[in-house]
Amino acid sequence: MKKYETKVLKASEESVKLAGELIRSGEIVGIPTETVYGLGGNALESTSSKKIFEAKGRPSDNPLIVHITEIDEVTPLVRDFPYLAKKCAEKFWPGPLTMVLPKSDLIPLETSGGLDTVGIRMPSDSTARAIIKAAGVPVAAPSANLSGSPSPTEAVHVFNDMNGRIPLIIDGNNSAVGVESTVISFENNAIRVLRPGFVSPEDLTEITPNVIIDDGVINMLSKDAVVKSPGMKYKHYSPDADIVIIDGALDKYIEYIKNNASESDCCMVFDGDELDVKNPIITYGRDSEEQAALLFSTLRKLDFMGIKKVYARCPSKDGVGLAVYNRLLRAAGFKVIRV
Ligand code: TXA
Ligand code: MG
Repeated sequence: MKKYETKVLKASEESVKLAGELIRSGEIVGIPTETVYGLGGNALESTSSKKIFEAKGRPSDNPLIVHITEIDEVTPLVRDFPYLAKKCAEKFWPGPLTMVLPKSDLIPLETSGGLDTVGIRMPSDSTARAIIKAAGVPVAAPSANLSGSPSPTEAVHVFNDMNGRIPLIIDGNNSAVGVESTVISFENNAIRVLRPGFVSPEDLTEITPNVIIDDGVINMLSKDAVVKSPGMKYKHYSPDADIVIIDGALDKYIEYIKNNASESDCCMVFDGDELDVKNPIITYGRDSEEQAALLFSTLRKLDFMGIKKVYARCPSKDGVGLAVYNRLLRAAGFKVIRV
């Protein structure tokens, strides 16, 4: 698909203004955010949302997140802004948290993937905020990758996936968080985590002790399961390489590699892990925050290296680690071996 001469412009006052104008006029622009790069369009226009789905090759029942810059902008977009949601907004916005709320008629069904709800987030990245303000409309933005491939954390990743599909990419900061926002919904007096992210379940307990982690976060959903967050049912974040997660201590991991891997298989381990194996080795950070920041670029590197099979050490499942584990599980198609 080659519809556009895709321009990549460094973030500046002029390029931000141009991005805002393009979005307001119905076009789609690649934009930096602190979580991952997004594909931004006017959230209030069904035609813009359709263009986003087309550029990504994304199933149209997978809803888009709507990005704003001020808490006041929530009210016209929703039918209800419950107390717990207001508390979350005050504590975690601007930042990597998306809240699913009942949508108002301003949000077209194309944006909400046919749902009666809308996911809303206020990003903290200064370029993202400047672009949304310049657009003067709420900005619908999924991650700016082709559907199924790892989310982009650098402008060049967006270019690799979207060249010819969109008119403009704004090259800003690399995404510091590195995994997409935490997605939550509200029920009775509880918060349900639909997708884990940098705002961890532990962080959310500061708002209420009733934090539920949805089954879909670490379990494979059957094809016809009723999912609360449609994004969770799709195979995701996958490099071409076949990934298997090895869950266990480093010595057990090494033993497994020595007994099972062929020499061209790649070991994807943590920085600081010492292993005397002949296999190619790639590392993805020491602690959970570093792993979040590096996971997607590491997955893209595997393809660049032409790796066919990868044995990945299993990340911690606590705090931000849960988000890393959730993404890696999907990249691995849920293949986990406990050692
Ligand atoms: O960090 C992020 O959230 C990034 C940046 C660009 O802001 N965006 C992002 O969007 O990750 P996307 O489209 O790749 O993922 C959106 C996720 C999907 O899993 C989707 O199912 C869920 O959020 N979601 C969005 N709206 C929802 C809704 N109304 N109800 C349930 N889940 C929703
Ligand atoms: Mg995505």
